[in-house]
Amino acid sequence: MYLKRREGTFPISMVNITNKCNLRCKHCFVFREGNPNHPKTEMDDETMIQQLKSLQKEHQIQNMLWMGGEPLLRPEVLRKGIEIFKENTITTNGTLDLIDFPGCIYVVSLDGPPDINDPVRGKGAFAKVMETLSRVPENFSSTVMVQCVVTKKNEDCLEELTNLLMPTRAEGLTFSFYVPQKNDTTELTWGSLELRDIAVQEVMRLKDKFPHFIWNSGRSLELTLSQNALKVTRDCPMLTYAIPLYLEADQFVSPFCCYGNDVDCDLCGAWSVFAVAEKIERSQTGNLSNIQDKVKK
Ligand SMILES: C[S@@+](CC[C@H](N)C(=O)[O-])C[C@H]1O[C@@H](n2cnc3c(N)ncnc32)[C@H](O)[C@@H]1O
Ligand code: SF4
Ligand code: SF4
Repeated sequence: MYLKRREGTFPISMVNITNKCNLRCKHCFVFREGNPNHPKTEMDDETMIQQLKSLQKEHQIQNMLWMGGEPLLRPEVLRKGIEIFKENTITTNGTLDLIDFPGCIYVVSLDGPPDINDPVRGKGAFAKVMETLSRVPENFSSTVMVQCVVTKKNEDCLEELTNLLMPTRAEGLTFSFYVPQKNDTTELTWGSLELRDIAVQEVMRLKDKFPHFIWNSGRSLELTLSQNALKVTRDCPMLTYAIPLYLEADQFVSPFCCYGNDVDCDLCGAWSVFAVAEKIERSQTGNLSNIQDKVKK
């Protein structure tokens, strides 16, 4: 069961502006059972914009993470919606051309070299994303970066992916670690934080080797290690600072967290959780009004 929207102030938000998607990735939390994710009767663009304006006011939302489904399937909502918020990050599967929105950050998803990415994200997906990146014009003013979700299946090919991406138009790469469901038995999960540590240490090694291209901070990776992770996830800062907005026909509803309802917090490796935890640790003030700083550490 998902919840009605919460009350209060949330500087960060993520919104699914469509439940439609042209891919069906094996790891995707959006399309898990029990989450609001039905693509049939979505509200129209104008209604959605009005609702987002009123949610911005109600919750004082500053930073919006645009998601879906595939958000570029609703370009008009993006075009008008980014005017509402101070900072905007658009996550995309990279199969459609990026639209230049000055000041915005694009997070393009890729989960490994073709032989590893495509069994998870779909046949031909890697090549399509590389084509999209190659079509980004010289004078494009949005920032373009790539996010890789690290799982047990791709942990051995992270350097190969990094090398494939460095010559492209992507300015940086962030690794996020798989967020499993409770009792997840898929081939993607390590099943324990200790087993995940090998992958976290690999990303730490890559951060040392390519400090400017890998945008995870060293400290956020330390916090992801098994000796620290539970202190962060058992008091998850995203529950305090972020409001998830999932799409349910003609309204937005909030599930338990950004990753939906049926999540295993103890094994959560979402980079945003650890990046926000680091920011709190550094600022000591709990003021997250400029959360976008974290991205380019
Ligand atoms: C749900 S997608 C929506 C936006 C767009 N369709 C895309 O693929 O980027 C947002 C991001 O979440 C990542 N993601 C999906 N399932 C995940 C999971 N179980 N754990 C961690 N990240 C996940 C995707 O790979 C993608 O980078
Ligand atoms: S492209 Fe994005 S929304 Fe679509 S299935 Fe893959 S991760 Fe999920
Ligand atoms: S799954 Fe991750 S982001 Fe969601 S509440 Fe748990 S720790 Fe936080």
